[in-house]
Amino acid sequence: MRVLVTGGAGYIGSHTMVELLGQGHEALVVDSFSNSSPKALDRVRELSNGYFEAVEADIRDTARLTEAAERFRPEAVIHFAGLKSVGESVRRTVDYYDVNVAGTVSLLRAMDASGCGRIIFSSSATVYGEPQYLPFDESHPLGPINVYGQTKAMAERLLTDWAAAEKGRGALLLRYFNPVGAHASGRMGEDPLGVPENLMPFLAQVAAGRRDALRIWGDDYPTPDGTGIRDYIHVTDLARAHVAALARFETLEGAEPYNIGTGQGISVKEMLGAFNRAVGRDLPFEIHPRRPGDIAEMRADCSKANRELNWQAEHDMDDMVQSLWAWQSANPHGYGEPG
Ligand code: NAD
Ligand code: WQD
Repeated sequence: MRVLVTGGAGYIGSHTMVELLGQGHEALVVDSFSNSSPKALDRVRELSNGYFEAVEADIRDTARLTEAAERFRPEAVIHFAGLKSVGESVRRTVDYYDVNVAGTVSLLRAMDASGCGRIIFSSSATVYGEPQYLPFDESHPLGPINVYGQTKAMAERLLTDWAAAEKGRGALLLRYFNPVGAHASGRMGEDPLGVPENLMPFLAQVAAGRRDALRIWGDDYPTPDGTGIRDYIHVTDLARAHVAALARFETLEGAEPYNIGTGQGISVKEMLGAFNRAVGRDLPFEIHPRRPGDIAEMRADCSKANRELNWQAEHDMDDMVQSLWAWQSANPHGYGEPG
């Protein structure tokens, strides 16, 4: 299939590119490189047949996007481009709505102009908010509790209405839980700017000696060891989910949400333990008060994706940690260094 990939140079986009090309699909990347490096695409080329083009453009630039789409004539779009930091979304509220919602409007206009009616959207488990029951299934009510989550819920609404407006349109709303880990080669991984907000990249930098100690945000949650529980999903499994999802378009009409996780909950202390095993020593940590807005436990019911996308996660916690550590140790400054 010919697939236009927005945000293809980013963390999840680059891993998905390798899987897409590996399965014989054609791809065109559109990325502004606002949160990624063109070097990530060099690594994609190195790990694949290398047969793809990239256009440097902002998704809000409808004219450039339309020109690219009319030239490439995609049969489907995978839409990763967006702003993703919960903390930053409170400070840059208008930018978050502009890129995540208005950017999606712009993309739909370009798709309409080029006759493409199929989109896979990067949504997030954040759209659920505080759990009314666990594990979350796709019918759990939506109640995002931060600006970032609101923008994702709004984009889901937009895509649902767009897909319903005309026959033959389909939108797959993939609600990722916590994507982590890196490519098995150690050549691609997450490359956050500044101090990482998320657990795994922060832990990796503690292990690499770039940060003094992990700060555990709360050990007084109602969980077995008191620390927060999440459903971490290996980025390669997540990438494979997108490729598997393309086949769903054959029968899809309208929009469908899918949880993408493993269904397994892992606590912060369990993850720290796995990291200690991977690096062969005990990493320093401090217990701090809870981080505002954090939820005690999040876990996905992924049976709908298992059934309807014919996909399931294959990698476990140790694979996540080992691949991340291989990437971090071989590329201590991410894509910022030669090589
Ligand atoms: P990322 O920041 O690594 O990748 C996003 C890519 O989009 C980057 O290459 C960036 O340069 C590009 N981009 C940003 N704004 C753009 C714009 N206006 N025009 C064109 N390109 C633009 O993030 P990621 O972790 O790979 O996440 C990909 C998608 O998945 C995002 O939409 C994110 O919200 C969503 N998501 C991520 C997570 C996670 O924890 N990583 C969880 C759930 C959902
Ligand atoms: C995981 C656990 C923290 C950092 C966020 C977004 C979500 C999605 C994924 C995009 C929690 C604890 C963390 C640290 C810690 N992104 N922690 N010390 O908050 O589940 O999800 O990223 O869509 O939308 O909200 O992920 O990795 O920040 O936290 O103790 O330095 O680790 O309290 O229990 P989170 P996270």
